[in-house]
Amino acid sequence: MTTTARPGDGVTANPLRKGLATNRIADPCNVVFFGATGDLMARMLMPAMWNLRLEDILPASYGIVGYSRSDDDDDKFRDEMHKSIDEFSRSGPAKEPLWSDFAKHLSYVSGTFDDTNGFHKLRQRLERNDKELGTGGNRLFYLSTPPSVFAQIVEQLDKAGLGPKDSPAGWTRIIIEKPFGTDLDSARALQAEVSKVFEEKHVYRIDHYLGKEPVQDIMALRFANVIFEPLWNRRYVDSVQITAAETVGVELRGGYYDNAGALRDMIQNHVMNLLALVAMEPPVSAAADAIRDEKYKVLCALRPFERGRLSLDAARGQYDAGSIGGKPVPGYREEPDVRPDSNTETYAAVKLLIDNWRWADVPFYLRSGKRLTHKTSEIAIRFKPIPHRLFGDVGDTLENNTLVMKIQPEEGVSLRFNAKVPGPKMHIRSVSMDFNYGTGFGVVSAPAYERLIGDAMRGDATLFTRWDAVEHAWEQVMPLLERWLDTADESFPNYHAGSQGPPSADRMLAMDGREWRKI
Ligand code: BG6
Repeated sequence: MTTTARPGDGVTANPLRKGLATNRIADPCNVVFFGATGDLMARMLMPAMWNLRLEDILPASYGIVGYSRSDDDDDKFRDEMHKSIDEFSRSGPAKEPLWSDFAKHLSYVSGTFDDTNGFHKLRQRLERNDKELGTGGNRLFYLSTPPSVFAQIVEQLDKAGLGPKDSPAGWTRIIIEKPFGTDLDSARALQAEVSKVFEEKHVYRIDHYLGKEPVQDIMALRFANVIFEPLWNRRYVDSVQITAAETVGVELRGGYYDNAGALRDMIQNHVMNLLALVAMEPPVSAAADAIRDEKYKVLCALRPFERGRLSLDAARGQYDAGSIGGKPVPGYREEPDVRPDSNTETYAAVKLLIDNWRWADVPFYLRSGKRLTHKTSEIAIRFKPIPHRLFGDVGDTLENNTLVMKIQPEEGVSLRFNAKVPGPKMHIRSVSMDFNYGTGFGVVSAPAYERLIGDAMRGDATLFTRWDAVEHAWEQVMPLLERWLDTADESFPNYHAGSQGPPSADRMLAMDGREWRKI
């Protein structure tokens, strides 16, 4: 069932969206957040629900249920959520009378994740919401807890009769936060538990990068234009660089991060998802599985790392003290909950090759790191040099054309090409042509979680990662992960906070006669 929009409370009235059916309203449903008193809930998930309400994407009949260990009640939960919206919502503090109406849809169930009684209370609450709020038996469970309890929650949902097979009246879906496993074996073990209760079509594995507006635009750029696709292959592309650079350190997540590292935290999921979108073949349709099939094929075509070349095809780093934006920051080993002799990488770079007709021999260089000089996520397609040079003085360098898809903080597309410098002589210089989302469409992109929760409520799995892709991405990184776990890097810490990363990453590209783009 699809309900109609409530006019008037939308936060954005964008003229460029006029006439477009953008308000895809979800079915009536309950959304249950496990880990409801956690940081992600306060910063991202509750503000996302609030903004979905403001944008008229929530249906008229909805319930939002928080489930967590804390001994809160509905009123305390509502107060906490009010505070988190006031502090973190992109639309500013929650205003009346909308807040009071929204708060009526919020409730809280206190329980541990292995507490059968707690899950029974949850079930009662959901049944009550179905009656009182008209939520129609539809349920979306969001697992925003430490990954160690994912399997427990799934099991308890089943025991409490909250699995999909027990709700013939409505649908049941589950969103699972990353990381999905900590290595190939644990991912498979988790999948085995999840699949006892949920079929693949019920499972929404979240990778918030896929919800970022410019990431979704990768497909539009490629497949809604005729000019790029003919060049999008080994004939014209020299190499591709995918960067996810951060200025933040591990903040208060040292306990998690020190057992994860950049390869698991960023490369295996976010960055490899970007690679798949950039390298995939045109899907046969825009259906979720048509797109996910093509992404999966890219992962299948990745050349496995050769164990003997791991030190040539990958580089790792760990930050030392330094300064970011003029402020001194501590080294990784001084961060809270990090081992003082930690061997965990806070920077990872890999070179990947895709063994198929389109990409044979085109290197894809992927890197991600914390405490780098700037926050930048981008995909840069560097084209081959021109075959024959006609113009330009000896001193003029003709740069290779580069197409950059900017994901954050800038959002847009930039094409670098060569042009004549005005004047009597044929001097050539590189210039760029830029498209920026903000100025192009006059809107600020909605945060990824808004888009993704809305999609899961509507049953659109396009931007969620299918199990086969998760498994394959783990298979790809395992040889490197094992090597890095087995052998300490004696050079750690090997890059200063606020720098471009470790020299070993530069050497990796220099061996191929290339350089990283400046962060
Ligand atoms: C998360 C990682 O998945 O992504 C974090 O666990 C990282 O370590 C974050 O900081 C980066 O996300 P964004 O959207 O800030 O690039």
